[in-house]
Amino acid sequence: MQVKIKGTTKICGLFGYPVEHSFSPAMQNAAFSSLLLDFVYVPFTVAPGDLAQAVRAVRALNLVGVNVTVPHKEKVLPFLDELTPEAQLTGAVNTIVHIEGRLVGHNTDGAGFLRALREEAGFSPAGKNVLVLGAGGAARAVAVALAGAGAQEISIANRTAQRAQELARELNERTPAKARAIFWSARHLGEVLGNVQLIVQTTPVGMTPGREQCPSFPFHCLGREHLVCDLIYNPPMTKFLERAREAGAAVSSGLGMLLHQGALAFELWTGKNAPLEVMRRALLEQLQER
Ligand code: ATR
Repeated sequence: MQVKIKGTTKICGLFGYPVEHSFSPAMQNAAFSSLLLDFVYVPFTVAPGDLAQAVRAVRALNLVGVNVTVPHKEKVLPFLDELTPEAQLTGAVNTIVHIEGRLVGHNTDGAGFLRALREEAGFSPAGKNVLVLGAGGAARAVAVALAGAGAQEISIANRTAQRAQELARELNERTPAKARAIFWSARHLGEVLGNVQLIVQTTPVGMTPGREQCPSFPFHCLGREHLVCDLIYNPPMTKFLERAREAGAAVSSGLGMLLHQGALAFELWTGKNAPLEVMRRALLEQLQER
């Protein structure tokens, strides 16, 4: 449906570099149209050196808010007036809300992941043990959210072991969860899997155009007691998830997190419940078109 732009139209957007690949404009505009809201969502290419000016423009142009994506999620913090506890804890912002000249930085990635776990996979992290693969920004958002939702033990494996150690240390210091770094080897991962219920793959390995790639993993140690999530949404069924499913595990793709982090941003900007099925359909259409 075509968005009608009028003098009264409220503007949201996306700051990233690049932004051409993003599914968010299609998802958010479909949501605005379906509820007949006088809102529009526009992608803005913001080069790294221009971020401070772009954030000032949110006020100057009276935008309702913006999503923030790679490579700005961490760098944007000093330019904001206020951060939510989630944004503070993850050190990253993916959604800015503009309220009467004040810019509030939120992070809906972690809460979006938790909602996806609950609503797409029927999984509650309270009291569960988790294995996180990767230790970058996405891993941090997921691990912090899981710790906040009552996960008991969080094991982190990463190509660069030192980053896994740093993330584990921070989680131990700042959350109630017990975290530890483990080596990314078949033997170490296999040992941990005996006592883990949830596995979250957060690296870009297997993402289009590298969809034939798969992180090395002891798939033979998986079974029906495991839920395996991949944060990658293109393709929705990664090689990693395919092999986990073949081994008998339940699987969940990154589309759920993409959908729910967007739904939470929509709710922050509009104050309305997000039309989830409309947004999901828009995401699936984007996937088919690419
Ligand atoms: P994001 O915000 O998407 O998490 P990031 O902060 O750059 O991005 O983190 C990327 C993560 O994927 C890191 O854990 C990275 O491992 P390193 O810390 O060793 O760099 C991991 N990663 C990226 N490419 C990888 C590859 N080819 N094999 C294994 N891990 C990879």
